[in-house]
Amino acid sequence: MIPPDLQDARIPEHIGCVMDGNGRWAQRRNLPRTQGHAAGEEALLDTVYGCLDLGVKWLTVYAFSTENWRRPPEEVRFLMNFNRSLLRRRRDELNDLGVRIQFSGRRDWRVPRSVLREMNAAQDMTSGNRTLTLTMAFNYGGRAEIVDAVREIAVLGLNPAQITDRTISRHLYHADMPDPDLVIRTSGEYRISNFLLWQIAYSELVFMDTLWPDFRREHLFEAVRFYQGRRRRYGGIAEGGQ
Ligand code: IPE
Ligand code: IPE
Ligand code: MG
Repeated sequence: MIPPDLQDARIPEHIGCVMDGNGRWAQRRNLPRTQGHAAGEEALLDTVYGCLDLGVKWLTVYAFSTENWRRPPEEVRFLMNFNRSLLRRRRDELNDLGVRIQFSGRRDWRVPRSVLREMNAAQDMTSGNRTLTLTMAFNYGGRAEIVDAVREIAVLGLNPAQITDRTISRHLYHADMPDPDLVIRTSGEYRISNFLLWQIAYSELVFMDTLWPDFRREHLFEAVRFYQGRRRRYGGIAEGGQ
């Protein structure tokens, strides 16, 4: 159900989320950081339900960055196991909701094979769904994505003058994915941390102080409310000349 003050006509088609603040959430409760990651599962599911309420078609969430390997090995191991078990626990529920699950990121040797198997299973099970596409950015870096695109393009042997924005876009991990209209980052940090660098050229950015484990659909609606108050100009001038 759309909250009555949100305008039906200006619901973002694609929302990106940098799910940040799990460690701090746990530390404030004298819990190990990993408990914060575990508590983030409820936040993710409620955000999916919120997107379904609003009719958002694409939700992309940052689950593990190419830089997160720098964390202590126990935390990295926890995150690998946690994401694997989350997929196993939640794939039926997400499938029943009509959610298509897909992944963005490098499937390199650092990702355990058991995690890759679970990713493939979730992707295969839900590939026919179209209500909402949930893209999990996992072992994802915006720069790595652009590097991977450039590598694919290089082998085509194109005349340099033929290379355009569209050439790059077509070689990103999901060529069919529209650019995000709105990117939300939780936990009060004002940075992008290598999330969807190419795609956010004209996204509206909303930074919220809420720590990710406390995030619920009401916070999503609040971010959409901010979004609806913005005027997107794409370098031009808005109607009325403002
Ligand atoms: C985000 O929470 C989750 C991941 C990066 C995997 P953090 O673990 O970064 O939490 P803080 O930022 O340290 O509080
Ligand atoms: C970004 O959060 C990555 C994810 C949410 C997965 P980080 O916590 O890793 O980002 P920095 O280190 O604060 O920039
Ligand atoms: Mg963080």
